[in-house]
Amino acid sequence: MSDIETFRQAIESFISSRGWTPTRFGREIAGDPLFVFDLREGREPRTETRQRIAKAMQTHEISMDALGRPLRIGIAGLGTVGAALINILNNDGDAIARKLGRRIVVSAVSARSRHRERGVSIDEFAWFDDPVALAKSPDVDLFVELVGGEDGPALASVSAALERGCPVITANKALLARHGVALAAMAEKNGAQLGFEAAVAGGIPVIKTLREGLGSSSITRVYGIMNGTCNYILTRMGAESISFEECLKDAQELGYAESDPTFDIEGFDTAHKLAILTSLCFGTEIAADQVFVEGIARITQADIKVAADLGYKIKLLGMAQKRADGIEQRVHPTLVRKTSSIAGVDGVLNAVALETNHVQELLLAGPGAGGEATAASVLSDILDIARGTHVPPLGVPTDDLVPCTRAPMRVHEGGYYIRLNARDVPGALAAIATRMGEGSISLESVIQRPDLRASEPGVEQETSRTVVLITHETIESAVREALNRIASDGFIVGQPQLIRIEEF
Ligand SMILES: NC(=O)c1ccc[n+]([C@@H]2O[C@H](COP(=O)([O-])OP(=O)(O)OC[C@H]3O[C@@H](n4cnc5c(N)ncnc54)[C@H](OP(=O)(O)O)[C@@H]3O)[C@@H](O)[C@H]2O)c1
Repeated sequence: MSDIETFRQAIESFISSRGWTPTRFGREIAGDPLFVFDLREGREPRTETRQRIAKAMQTHEISMDALGRPLRIGIAGLGTVGAALINILNNDGDAIARKLGRRIVVSAVSARSRHRERGVSIDEFAWFDDPVALAKSPDVDLFVELVGGEDGPALASVSAALERGCPVITANKALLARHGVALAAMAEKNGAQLGFEAAVAGGIPVIKTLREGLGSSSITRVYGIMNGTCNYILTRMGAESISFEECLKDAQELGYAESDPTFDIEGFDTAHKLAILTSLCFGTEIAADQVFVEGIARITQADIKVAADLGYKIKLLGMAQKRADGIEQRVHPTLVRKTSSIAGVDGVLNAVALETNHVQELLLAGPGAGGEATAASVLSDILDIARGTHVPPLGVPTDDLVPCTRAPMRVHEGGYYIRLNARDVPGALAAIATRMGEGSISLESVIQRPDLRASEPGVEQETSRTVVLITHETIESAVREALNRIASDGFIVGQPQLIRIEEF
């Protein structure tokens, strides 16, 4: 047998004994995915290349033998996050194995279409049409759900894995916001872990920080920017004086916003993430349906400009804090001082701020979405599970969670920015001020901006002027009542704009 034939057989036997594909050998050992195919076709590598490969195979053989049994993962969902996860595992496989002392191998995958181009090869993995069958497969030690959706295949497959005691990792905030407590209870009952680092603020390790990083600290307030689409739109409106609609269109073209952006811009996505954080912060059940939600679609250039002149930026914030009458969970556009840390978080970035009894403010900022950043969070959960880390999914056992009692928004106290289109008639301003006074609302400033024309439909530009009121701390119900009275007096046109002010 020729020298080159012996070399080829050694490679074939290495590949088959490990269940590798020729492409993987080429990629991980030879540095050329087509190497084995070329060799099979009789193309001889240079002596130095052969020596380098023989040495790499030897090192690999030894390091593989030293490692424990591989952890076999099954991935359902091979879209933005799923494909990025496979890519990271391909590229960092050896480094991960060295860190863990065992290999992570993808044993099987599932998606809708088997033959879609995904930028990563899935040929070497077993294929399942049905994510539930994948979750039940005895060849899967850890199930990763990256399908999305609050019910359907995501819920069915995650439940199937947990029922058989198989650990689960998911990036699915919609699923957790709705079924998180039931799934956490199922995980506890069956002795399985449930990881969801990627579900809130993508690449920012906020779940681990809350669950394991804060020691005995108790959290007094959590707030943050948790939707990159909204933050991108508001940042661009601030930087370039363009309308909400134009920014949204750009965000869609750049892939930062979905073709149907409702879920993001109306604040529901932030509400899901906030509800998960609230549970971890305050030991309550997840109650996404009790979050007060307002989106950013009504923010105009007039608001952005007046806010900027007053030293503020407008951000879509999710906030939760304990009050005497329950838990306040709210998502709405918010005026924040330009000098605050949260105001510096611009573009598609996300940030979560935690205030505890020991730390005044801990701000975690970074990429809130994107395949690679999100997959990196999924991977950090995989590593935790592979190491055997076991913590209750929601920080405390589900039996110890308390119901999340909603603190009513009408008694929320804070400062308010109110923009009105006041009719350009004598007495209009005086009437508005009177109504505010009747509600015991003290005004910090009244700003008239005839240069900022209203942009709402039905508002006649020539006969109204933009008036902005900034209130001192007051009660939400008083502001709403005053605005109702002002509207019925007939001195304003269109809908008043009301934005809450938060001092951090
Ligand atoms: N993208 C992000 O930046 C990001 C950030 C944080 C969290 N997440 C969360 O991560 C999850 C995945 O997001 P993604 O952006 O990767 O979604 P995506 O790109 O839309 O991918 C979804 C994947 O699920 C598969 N799928 C859909 N329905 C299925 C079914 N019935 N059976 C089997 N497979 C099915 C799709 O298959 P086909 O490819 O064959 O159509 C696709 O591979 C979601 O829960 C999302 O909220 C995403």
